[in-house]
Amino acid sequence: MVREIIRSGNPVLRTVSKEVNSITPEIHILIKDMIDTLKASPIKGVGLAAPQVGVNLRVVIVLFQDTKSEKIVPLINPQIVSANGEVEDYEGCLCLPRLYGRVKRYQEVKIKALNEKGELLIMDLKGLTARVVQHEIDHLDGILFVDRMEDPTQLIYEDHPNLFHT
Ligand code: CO
Repeated sequence: MVREIIRSGNPVLRTVSKEVNSITPEIHILIKDMIDTLKASPIKGVGLAAPQVGVNLRVVIVLFQDTKSEKIVPLINPQIVSANGEVEDYEGCLCLPRLYGRVKRYQEVKIKALNEKGELLIMDLKGLTARVVQHEIDHLDGILFVDRMEDPTQLIYEDHPNLFHT
């Protein structure tokens, strides 16, 4: 079921989300709904965090893509274990549609999380995927990308729905 994506200004986006203690049927429904919501979004999204659909739980989904395939991977209680390098690039957010700003992120991150079965995942990520996961973990801590812009006067509006949002 597609859920409503809430917008900046809603206090849920500014609340630190709670860890998932047990992976109940409600968590599976939440993940399925988040995937439906991301796929249905008229603005291209490559990641979504539960607070963006109004739920303060530490659940995110991330689109992993290469030239051949793409899949949406749910991550429960994701955490950065280690990080390397720094890279600045544009980011957009489904809660602030069509606004873009440059944000510094780690270039590479090692993360740990649980999958839908409660199994431990350890992943080494780089590039766009590493950026998206950092953006989504920020959502779980009540942080939006605009908070991380070194120069907020450089926030730009671009009516181009194919630029990615997270
Ligand atoms: Co976002």
